Amino acid sequence: MERIEIKELLAKGKAGDSVTVAGWIKSVRASKSVGFVHLNDGSTFDSVQVVVPEGFAGRDAVLKQITGAALKVTGTLVASPAKGQALDLEPSAIEILGECDPSSPVQKAGTSFEFLRGVAHMRPRTNTFGAVFRTRAELSFAVHEFFRGRGFVMAHTPILTTSDCEGAGEMFQVTTLDLDKLPKGADGRTDFSRDFFGEKCALTVSGQLEAEILALSLSKVYTFGPTFRAEPSTTPRHAAEFWMIEPEFAFADLKDDRDLAEAFVKHLLEHLFKHCERDLRFFDERVEKGLRAKLEAVAKAEFGVIEYTKAIEVLEKAGRTWEHPVSWGKDLQTEHERYLTEEYAKRPLFVIDYPRSIKPFYMYCNDDGKTVACMDLLVPRVGELIGGSQREHRLPRLLERMKECGIDENAYSWYADLRRFGTVPHAGFGLGFERMLMYATGMQNIRDVELCPRVPGFAKF
Ligand code: 4AD
Ligand code: MG
Repeated sequence: MERIEIKELLAKGKAGDSVTVAGWIKSVRASKSVGFVHLNDGSTFDSVQVVVPEGFAGRDAVLKQITGAALKVTGTLVASPAKGQALDLEPSAIEILGECDPSSPVQKAGTSFEFLRGVAHMRPRTNTFGAVFRTRAELSFAVHEFFRGRGFVMAHTPILTTSDCEGAGEMFQVTTLDLDKLPKGADGRTDFSRDFFGEKCALTVSGQLEAEILALSLSKVYTFGPTFRAEPSTTPRHAAEFWMIEPEFAFADLKDDRDLAEAFVKHLLEHLFKHCERDLRFFDERVEKGLRAKLEAVAKAEFGVIEYTKAIEVLEKAGRTWEHPVSWGKDLQTEHERYLTEEYAKRPLFVIDYPRSIKPFYMYCNDDGKTVACMDLLVPRVGELIGGSQREHRLPRLLERMKECGIDENAYSWYADLRRFGTVPHAGFGLGFERMLMYATGMQNIRDVELCPRVPGFAKF
C-alpha cells in the first residue's frame, strides 16, 4: 500500500501536498458541518487530523466509526486554522479498512494500567503503551550503538544451558521426558541421561559465564538477550522473563566495570533525550511529573559509591524501623536500596564489596577474606538496576569458592579452564533492560514495559 507514515508527514509535510495515510482512529468528533478524525499509525506519538467536510461522499459512514477502527485516507494537506497542529488533512477519499467493534477494551479513556494488563494484546493502541514500546526499541538500538562505538563484540550466548550462573536455583527446567513416566536411575532419582541433552538443562538466568568464554579471546564482548528466572516474586520489579545486557571485558577490574556501567546508563539517557523527545514529553507530563528534569540531572551527575559495610552503618543510623532488619552479612532489601539512593545519596549509587557469603561463586575475593569485588547500581524509584563484579581469575581461589558454594567442579571444568590457560583479570555486569525502561519512562510496573509479561501465574499469549 502506498502511504506516507504519519511521523514523516508531521515532520516534512507542507500545505498543498497530496498524501495517503493509513492508521487507527484515536478519536472522532462530529459537529453539524465538519467532522474531525484523529488518525495514528504508531510511527509517532501524534496523530494527523482529518477534517471531513459537509457533503463529503461517505461522510456518515466515516463519522460513525469509533476509536480503534482502521482507515486509509487520501487527500491534501492544508494549513490548520486551529491550535494544536500545523496541518490538517482534507480528504478526497476515505476507505474503511477495518471497523472496530464497540466492545473494544481500549475505548474508555483513563483505563487503568492494571486493567490494560488483562488485555495486553490491545494496549499498544493507547498513547502510553505506544510510547513505551517505541522507547523500548530506541533504547535497544542505543545499547548496540554504545558497545559497538567502544569496540565491544556482540556475543550470542545460549538460551538453553546446563550452567546455573547465579547459583540461586531459580532455573526453568527444559525437558522432553514424559513427566508422567520419568525414567529412574538405580538411586531412585530421575535419570537425565535419557533426557534430550543427556543431562539436566534449563533456560538461562544470565549469559555471563558463556560471555566470559568469548571475552577471554576477543577482550571486549557484550550480550543482549532474554533471561529467565523462576523467582516466585510478584513485586513490580520482577519478571520471569526479562532482557539483560551483559558486557564482559578482559584486563579490567571493578573500577573499570563501574566506569563502564556509569557511561552506559548515561548514554542510554542521552539517547532518550535526543531520539525519544516526543514520547518523553508525554511520560514527563502524564506518567511521572518532572521525570525529564530528574533524568537530565542524573545524566550530568557523578554517580555515588559506597562500600556495603559502610552502607550497613548508614542504614543502622538512619533512625528508621526497617521491615527487614539490617545487619552485616544480610542482603539489602528494596526498602534499604531505595533509602540509600533516594535519601542518603540522592543520585544513582554503586554499593560495592558485598559479603562473599551472599554472592555467587564467580566473584573476585577481596584481600579482607570477607568480601567480594562486586557492585550493585541502585537508582531512585527502581532500586537495583545493575549487578556486576570483577571475576575471580585466580584458579586456586575459584576452585575454593566453587567448593564453598557446593558447585560440581567437573560440570564447570570448562569455566576453570579459562583460568588454566592464560587467565587475566576481567569484569562485567548485567543491566536489567526492563528496569532501565521503568527508570526512563516513569512506568511503575515491569509488566507495563514488556509486550507480553511473564510473571508467576501468568503467561498469556
Ligand atoms: O544481579 P543479577 O542477578 O546479575 C547477574 O545475573 C550477573 N550474572 C550479571 C553479570 O555480571 N553479567 O541480575 C542483573 C540485573 C539486575 O540488576 C536487575 O536489573 C535485573 O538483572 N534483574 C531482573 N529484572 C527483572 N526481573 C527479574 N526477575 C530480575 N532479576 C534480575
Ligand atoms: Mg543482583
